[in-house]
Amino acid sequence: MSTTAPTRPLVTALVADAVTAPSMHNAQPWRFVHRTGTDTVELHGDPTRELPREDPDHRALHLGCGAALFGLRVAAAHRGLRTETRLLPDPEDPWHLADVRLLAGEDEELAGLWPALRERHTSRFPFSEERIPSELLDALAAAALLEGCRLVVPGDWHADTVMELVRESELFEAADEAVRAEIAAWTRTGAADEGPQTEGIPAYAFGPRQYDVTSPVRDFDAQRRDAGRGSVRFEQRPQLALLGTGEDTPADWLRAGQALQRVLLQATLDGLSTSLMSQPLEWPELRSQTRDPGSAMGHVHMVLRLGYGPRGGATPRRPVSEVLAFE
Ligand SMILES: Cc1cc2nc3c(=O)[nH]c(=O)nc-3n(C[C@H](O)[C@H](O)[C@H](O)COP(=O)(O)O)c2cc1C
Repeated sequence: MSTTAPTRPLVTALVADAVTAPSMHNAQPWRFVHRTGTDTVELHGDPTRELPREDPDHRALHLGCGAALFGLRVAAAHRGLRTETRLLPDPEDPWHLADVRLLAGEDEELAGLWPALRERHTSRFPFSEERIPSELLDALAAAALLEGCRLVVPGDWHADTVMELVRESELFEAADEAVRAEIAAWTRTGAADEGPQTEGIPAYAFGPRQYDVTSPVRDFDAQRRDAGRGSVRFEQRPQLALLGTGEDTPADWLRAGQALQRVLLQATLDGLSTSLMSQPLEWPELRSQTRDPGSAMGHVHMVLRLGYGPRGGATPRRPVSEVLAFE
């Protein structure tokens, strides 16, 4: 097997593509390392970007890093390289999430997803009621399976249950001052005391308020700091999909993150808009109820909303120089 020691500009370009990945509250909880002369790019989680109130186990952190890992694989394929990934390669270091070897060889299927990396954005806007053809949904489920995960479209009663849990989680959140403070710390509304503009969720990505909650779209300004934000009606029958795995270990979370990004990129190429919802999954008592007890999906990692509607705008990312080290 022939290997390639990549140049610095190449690794920089791969990481620039990888960090287009979604992450909870756009916290971007990743670090990449390339050691000179090796053919491997290391992915590390960044514990300084944890969300202790909403993600105490770091599951969401792993999901975001898994999505970035998948982006790195796509980026390499786009440049004519095959990748070999090892999850959690160092038993002594749980924050060393993956090693990605860059090898000579084609992967046309992954390379085909590359244009979607910069087209995919979370859309917190209303979608139309137009139904998604079942062939497209089947293809998305197949995409998740390729990464060892399940994507399930809930039936009517299950979708209603998920929506009830979304509403319940909103109440839990409204009643929890520490959670509200954590969310506020990761939103950017133009207030003077906010953190860096290269991270967090900017006000333009909040989308409008919902008249009544029919769709699983989180309101990042539930405290109504932005008085000018209008209310609109969202789709009455949101098209949901649940992503999950049989077990619930850090390796499963990394697999789920890769599956999430594969599904989102495929959906983007298929002309779909997407948004993500983890609100009910952040409360253990609600998370366990999101799964369909009749399905083989043991643990739900994400509620996706899919449909036809505005794509959403690009949100900021930290410069690659802040997240990539050459050692
Ligand atoms: C684990 C995880 C959980 C997320 N939870 C939510 C959520 O509950 N509501 C929401 O609107 N977006 C959610 N997102 C989407 C992020 O807010 C979004 O990816 C981030 O702000 C960057 O924006 P982008 O996806 O447009 O690039 C989540 C993303 C991840 C990876």
